[in-house]
Amino acid sequence: MRQLTTPEQAREFVLDRRFRGHTVGVVPTMGALHDGHLELVRQAKQHCDVSIATIFVNPTQFGPGEDLDKYPRLLEQDLSLLERIGADAVFLPSSESIYPPGFSTFVEAPDVGSPLEGVCRPSHFRGVTTIVCKLFQILPATHAFFGRKDYQQLKVIEAMVRDLNIAIEIVACDTVREEDGLALSSRNRYLDSAQRIQALALSRALQRAQAMATAGTRQTEQLEQAMRQELDGHADHPGVDRVEYAVVVDAETLLPLTDLNRPAVALIAAFVGQTRLIDNRLISALI
Ligand code: PAF
Repeated sequence: MRQLTTPEQAREFVLDRRFRGHTVGVVPTMGALHDGHLELVRQAKQHCDVSIATIFVNPTQFGPGEDLDKYPRLLEQDLSLLERIGADAVFLPSSESIYPPGFSTFVEAPDVGSPLEGVCRPSHFRGVTTIVCKLFQILPATHAFFGRKDYQQLKVIEAMVRDLNIAIEIVACDTVREEDGLALSSRNRYLDSAQRIQALALSRALQRAQAMATAGTRQTEQLEQAMRQELDGHADHPGVDRVEYAVVVDAETLLPLTDLNRPAVALIAAFVGQTRLIDNRLISALI
């Protein structure tokens, strides 16, 4: 596996493969890799001739008081996982090469970034669009792979690519879950064993919303109420400590919906202890 540390090396690596007529799939990550990330690399290998992962903990997407300093950094472990899975290359830029002194150009997030995470983490998506746009400049790949676990991020990146005419195909990949339903996340490492049980309330709430929709409930308010009950917990199942949002919204715009008359997605953000978790599920209604 080639380790590319400067933007120049990385661009040259990708352009060389593109000139040879190869497709190149990029998997942007912030490291602390888990099976969800590795599945993105597997998909990149399956779809493309060449796969390249990036590891960069992007400071501009963390707000004041968020977990930038304690975000897990496990480079040696990440490199051996990528090597084992057969990634062709990894891009490991320094902070100075991405944000040199005097850096002041940002990519504004599109409208779909405004609700939900946009309210709770006001500068987050501006940091995401800026870094992802920069990565797409540095690595002129044919395809980029993102998980549906960060559903709003995926929609933000799809909109950015459309709005800025970036010549790359975004491939969305399903969320990878533990057997008990917990969505894989680098932040799960922060949870102790009791908190890990509390965290299951998120996937349970999403399942309950889908079960109600399957049984014929169409009012999103009722689905949201049921999700909140599940997140609050009950006798056998502890709940989360604080819910930031638990909504069923339009799956494309992420704007409120009253009735399941369009493709919908249920999205949750909640705290377990100090750890902020997000999860989501597309909701299919009984026709
Ligand atoms: O999803 C992530 O890990 C990050 O937001 C991303 C896309 C790598 C940008 O830093």
